[in-house]
Amino acid sequence: GGVTRYEAENATISQGAVESNHAGYSGTGFVNGDNAAGSYVEWTVNGAAGAATLRIRYANGTTAGRPATITVNGATVAADQPFNGTGAWATWATATVPVTLRSGANTVRITANTAAGNPNLDYLEVVQ
Ligand code: GCU
Repeated sequence: GGVTRYEAENATISQGAVESNHAGYSGTGFVNGDNAAGSYVEWTVNGAAGAATLRIRYANGTTAGRPATITVNGATVAADQPFNGTGAWATWATATVPVTLRSGANTVRITANTAAGNPNLDYLEVVQ
């Protein structure tokens, strides 16, 4: 199977900014979403019809989780993805989520569940 990486800084951002002040990111930066419930990052990714794995690289320099809802084509695939603390803002971790894609364009959205907002988001990879 192949792995395709989609940088967060190239995605659609609702409430947030691209920043580069914490080392270790891929590409030109990462998305620092606003500390607000409902803030999100949305990617459009290519798929084949069938099972795939999403890999989400993130950092959360706090000790509290930053739970989020992950949707694919508008359907919830993870209602409470925990995005637990990674120890530092420059320490990145990868969360994996099994999904089903359709052929062609698919939208993947990560929306903050709490007022703390999302973790910092580096990229989304599609493994299929
Ligand atoms: C700090 C950190 C940011 C992070 C923010 C947050 O300000 O430098 O990168 O996004 O905390 O709590 O979300």
